[in-house]
Amino acid sequence: MIRTLIVIPTYNEVGNLPGILHRVHNATGETDVLIVDDSSPDGTGALADQLASVDPRIHVLHRAQKDGLGGAYRAGFAWGLARDYDRLVEMDADGSHDPAHLPALLEALDDADVAVGSRWIDGGRAEGWPLHRRLLSRGGSAYARLMLGITQRDVTGGFRAYRADALREIDPTHLVSQGYSFQIEMLWRAANAGHRIIEVPITFVERLHGTSKMSSTIVTEALARVTRWGLARPLIRQILTFIGVGAIGLAVDVITFNLLRATILSPEAVPGGALAAKVISVTLAIVANWLGNRYWTFAEQRRSDVGREAVDFLLASALGGLASLVTLGVSHYALGLHTAIADNISANVIGLALGSAVRFITYREWVFAG
Ligand code: GDD
Repeated sequence: MIRTLIVIPTYNEVGNLPGILHRVHNATGETDVLIVDDSSPDGTGALADQLASVDPRIHVLHRAQKDGLGGAYRAGFAWGLARDYDRLVEMDADGSHDPAHLPALLEALDDADVAVGSRWIDGGRAEGWPLHRRLLSRGGSAYARLMLGITQRDVTGGFRAYRADALREIDPTHLVSQGYSFQIEMLWRAANAGHRIIEVPITFVERLHGTSKMSSTIVTEALARVTRWGLARPLIRQILTFIGVGAIGLAVDVITFNLLRATILSPEAVPGGALAAKVISVTLAIVANWLGNRYWTFAEQRRSDVGREAVDFLLASALGGLASLVTLGVSHYALGLHTAIADNISANVIGLALGSAVRFITYREWVFAG
């Protein structure tokens, strides 16, 4: 028989606990539940003990003080793995995770190691959530996906099921997150370990009683951790450094041009000096860009043949410039958009972005592929 444990962390959930346990057992029958309570001042722990004393399916783990969602799950999973459960589930106590989704989540484990209850795939949604929570959740998922390369849509949700062997391999005891970033860290680890992850659509509803424990500290922790983890990934670090080097190159170009025009190549001293000033400033900017990318962005993959690398760098940079020109040509001539704003958007916004993408890819895959 497959043994399942549902881990429910609680902090001040006295109004929600009896209802959620009743609904969990209605949905799953004999499934065991572990309540991990952090000495809730409202008496949730005592109520949990009382419910456990009359129902052998209910277990309680008391922790001395409030120590975050991540800490509660780490303790709960360790408790379940030590008792050889086959499948472990995480879910909120407040009714926002509908126990009616439990059978689908558990069934998904027939074909996967991790089943993620997802609000942001077809068929899933969040009901009654204020706009700021919706934006925070979607924005957080998008940022984590971008920084960490996670492919799932709902990265922050806390309604998931794990096969015990996968959970053992992920080894939550080594996770560092205290708050909600625990969810992101778990998913990232599972994906990195090559576990099969399936998203199952869920409807998330606003909690029935009490208040959310979401705080600015929790958001800051998640943001800081995802940024730190992301920056440790070579691709993200390279993209950010490439942008930094590009900005320095632009500054060199603008500052040099204006300095020359104000001094030795002023309009009074040299009537046709603007062109010469631009040639010098652009040349210096290209050299700054090359050195910055050679010794900083792509330092670990720079070539030993410096001359060849410099020539290829010039060619790749010209290709990037060409992308901007082609964008301008398409909008100005093919689409007939002749206003100054349209020219500026196509050349300096879309063209610049496209040109930068072309340059980044060609630098990474060809110029500095030493
Ligand atoms: N033991 C313990 N200790 N439990 C906690 C703690 C803690 O420090 N902090 C929160 N909990 C419990 C709550 O009592 C609840 O059962 C569950 O964890 C979720 O906390 P809420 O405060 O209700 O979370 P939420 O509704 O704002 O956030 C939901 O969305 C987040 C982002 O999408 C949750 O589903 C989170 O898991 C999710 O990351």
